[in-house]
Amino acid sequence: MANQWRLNGFFDSTKLTGLFEAAQRRESCRIFATAPNTEQWSELNTAAALLALPGMRIALGICENSLFQPVLGALFVKFENVQRFAAIIVTDDQPISVVNAGVSGEMFLLRAVEMGLGGCWVSGTYRRAQVGLKLESNEKIVALIALGRPKTLPNLPLARKRKDIATICPDFEKMNSALREAAQYVQIAPSAINLQPWRIRLTGKKTVTVSVGMSGQKLDLGIAICHALLALGNTSAIFSLADNGQTATIELL
Ligand SMILES: Cc1cc2nc3c(=O)[nH]c(=O)nc-3n(C[C@H](O)[C@H](O)[C@H](O)COP(=O)(O)O)c2cc1C
Repeated sequence: MANQWRLNGFFDSTKLTGLFEAAQRRESCRIFATAPNTEQWSELNTAAALLALPGMRIALGICENSLFQPVLGALFVKFENVQRFAAIIVTDDQPISVVNAGVSGEMFLLRAVEMGLGGCWVSGTYRRAQVGLKLESNEKIVALIALGRPKTLPNLPLARKRKDIATICPDFEKMNSALREAAQYVQIAPSAINLQPWRIRLTGKKTVTVSVGMSGQKLDLGIAICHALLALGNTSAIFSLADNGQTATIELL
């Protein structure tokens, strides 16, 4: 049973064009030249407050690079010179809050990219005991985002490792142009271990569902919905979410 979602109308639509464009230049950045400067840090703090949907919050923190060098994964994961991070925190145990954390966390990351910064979602490869943020008893960190000024800027257009659009969205050819653009924006979204767990299905002439197969992929679902929302731009749509947080419905008006 899908309920209407606070997502509808939550974000200031005049600010979304910059994030839409940032999505095209975003790739995971793990090697940084410097930390964000004072002005950027202040803007990131503003964005963290403005972009947080209900049931989640974004807390900024200062760190040493070793936060992103887990004892076991150190040989494989290369994070260099990470001095700042954002913690993506859920504030209750409802499935929707994790999806909201994905939506807001990706909006926040794209805001950082818009400002000329880079970043990377990190849910696995960090030292949990070293985060050093004060959490309430009901709060849980679902991921960190490493942040900073990238050492090198990506070559555009980006060469991304992605599944075919027909795999993510078997009905792609049958969809209208607005829904196609939304599907293509989901395709370029980041996901944990690049699994791209999304399946987009046409369920009505102007309605699609975006699903993930496992409960643990709710964050990835939220990230995909962030991208779909940005791609739809001024096209009016109603977003709803199944109670288990694994299927979102987008209905164009
Ligand atoms: C929820 C989430 C968790 C992630 N966790 C990690 C991580 O623990 N370590 C890491 O190096 N990258 C992590 N990533 C980055 C992905 O590997 C990356 O997004 C994916 O390979 C796609 O590449 P791109 O972001 O450059 O498009 C994570 C991404 C997401 C969305």
